[in-house]
Amino acid sequence: MEIKTVGVLGCGLMGAGIAQVCAASGYKTLVREVEEPLLAKGLGRIEKFLNDGIDKGKVTPEAKTRTLANLTGTTKLEDLASADLVIEAIIENVDEKARVYAALDAVVSDSTIFCSNTSSLCITELAAKTRRPDRFAGLHFFNPVPLMKLVEVIRALTTSDETYRAVFAFAQSLGKEPITAPDKPGFIVNRLLVPYLLDAIRSYENGLGTIEDIDKGMKLGTGYPMGPFTLLDFVGLDTTYYIANIMFDEYREPAYAPPPLLKRMVLAGRLGKKSGQGFYKY
Ligand code: 3HC
Repeated sequence: MEIKTVGVLGCGLMGAGIAQVCAASGYKTLVREVEEPLLAKGLGRIEKFLNDGIDKGKVTPEAKTRTLANLTGTTKLEDLASADLVIEAIIENVDEKARVYAALDAVVSDSTIFCSNTSSLCITELAAKTRRPDRFAGLHFFNPVPLMKLVEVIRALTTSDETYRAVFAFAQSLGKEPITAPDKPGFIVNRLLVPYLLDAIRSYENGLGTIEDIDKGMKLGTGYPMGPFTLLDFVGLDTTYYIANIMFDEYREPAYAPPPLLKRMVLAGRLGKKSGQGFYKY
């Protein structure tokens, strides 16, 4: 299985980051968004990241030119027909994903591998929505994608050995460090990270300390790059709430139950950095 052309579905925060690292690693990359303005926003995000990288001395102007030359944006699914591997990074909704997989199944080659960047949905369920359950795997990236070294590779019950090996090697070819994670909610990282974030909110509600002090404590006392509340705002409170609910549904353990304050902040539209206010104001 030689992978030369990569399709990316979705050019939001994660899709744009994934498309950027694929293009930067030399793959011909086709990224599809549903509407022109969303596509322009995603491509703009990639260009800004590359420009910031140049300013910081981390990206050369030549690397930026090469990356952008490998990248093509489109709103047409048919344009992904030549993709050897497609990474889906659209909304976390099984029906929406199934609809896009069905349309894609009709235009790509039989040998094309599908991967989902889902952070919480069941990979086996998603694989079963396609005509290629043996050529389907989870490929979970972390935000910000161009900077975070980790990728989780998740096998569905139906993933073939060949597909698993090809996806793992593909993740390495992006300069990432893949690990194999089970097809259970949270995989490895969110399974441990989300209860920690929820516990920080519960502890704050119980008067453990101020938001600033808890953040400072965990950042300076443990060497984490961000305290839990800064990280919650960074990940998005809606995203965390959504993942927590899926984990709680599956495991039925209190550690995964979203605390009341998290739910209320989501209801109030305080979603974190992206909405201008979460535990902090931006
Ligand atoms: N291009 C290239 N390199 C860049 C860059 C750019 N545009 N912007 C920054 N960098 C480099 C910097 O030069 C620096 O490199 P160095 O370590 O060699 O000096 C490094 O990236 C860090 O950048 P900064 O110093 O500017 O910023 P910070 O030190 O504040 O780091 C951060 C930013 C990487 C986001 C860090 O705060 C961090 O790791 N935070 C935690 C993020 C995290 O936990 N993400 C996972 C969330 S969970 C998830 O995604 C799963 C989902 O399912 C919810």
